[in-house]
Amino acid sequence: MKVFNLSKELLAYKNSQFKDEKIAFIPTMGALHKGHASLMRKARNNKMVVIVSIFVNPTQFNDHKDYEKYPRTTEHDLMLCHGQGVDVVYLPDKEDVYPPNLDTSLKFDLSGFDKVMEGEFRPGHFKGVCEVVKRLLDLTQPDYLYMGQKDFQQFMIVGRMIHVLDIKTQLVVCKTSRERSGLARSSRNTRLSSEGLANAANIFKTLCAIQKSILTKEVDRLQAYGLKKLKKYGFETEYIQIIDGATLQELESEERATCIVVCVAAWLEGVRLIDNIVIRQGDLILI
Ligand code: PAJ
Repeated sequence: MKVFNLSKELLAYKNSQFKDEKIAFIPTMGALHKGHASLMRKARNNKMVVIVSIFVNPTQFNDHKDYEKYPRTTEHDLMLCHGQGVDVVYLPDKEDVYPPNLDTSLKFDLSGFDKVMEGEFRPGHFKGVCEVVKRLLDLTQPDYLYMGQKDFQQFMIVGRMIHVLDIKTQLVVCKTSRERSGLARSSRNTRLSSEGLANAANIFKTLCAIQKSILTKEVDRLQAYGLKKLKKYGFETEYIQIIDGATLQELESEERATCIVVCVAAWLEGVRLIDNIVIRQGDLILI
């Protein structure tokens, strides 16, 4: 496994070593766990050369304190990558990603994808995500981009960016990797107490309960039910929304939508957790 801090060295290595192989790129912010590992494993199983980036991107944090507090576990991360058979790790500093003389800002229409859910509660977040993913794609020039279902709105927005900017990289979305309890794996889970961890599994249970009733109950009633249930378990819910997966807009009735997703963001013990469940898949391909 090769580790590069400088993109120009990474690119020179990539161009000299890998001529006919397909390249899969997995952007991360480090603090790697089994969820990240599942993306690496899937890319490897698909016979790709795997490039992982580890970069805590300052432009996607609305709160600078959050950025500073973000766990940095580089040694552990490199070991995890090595264990998953990753070929190349890109571990840049800020200047390599954002050289002072380069304008990395993007201007394109996200069709309102960035205005709802996470976009409402984390203004500017997706602008930062697009900025860094575009820059990382420019630097690594992969055939495939592997992202997780866990961040539903994120991969939808990145997919939209790839389409609008006509980027020659194909997005591959990997199913959410979960603990045995159903809790979606996340670096934030380590900040929960053992009781909190057990309780956090109620997020996925609530999503599953909504899934079961989607054909028999109205959308508004189901959302209210989810909210009430999460409150009972002690969560402070920012949103629980049943959306049309193609537009990310709130679903009016289940009848016409080909893709239906329930998305949630809720706080527990001062930790913000997000999750989603795809109820009806439409054109969405999850591996
Ligand atoms: P990060 O939170 O490190 O996540 C990196 C990738 O791993 C994302 O595509 C995310 O959806 C995926 N992932 C995380 N937990 C997962 C789980 N339990 N199951 C499946 N996939 C999971 O998301 C980011 O970093 C950043 O916003 C980034 C895209 C790197 C841009 O800075």
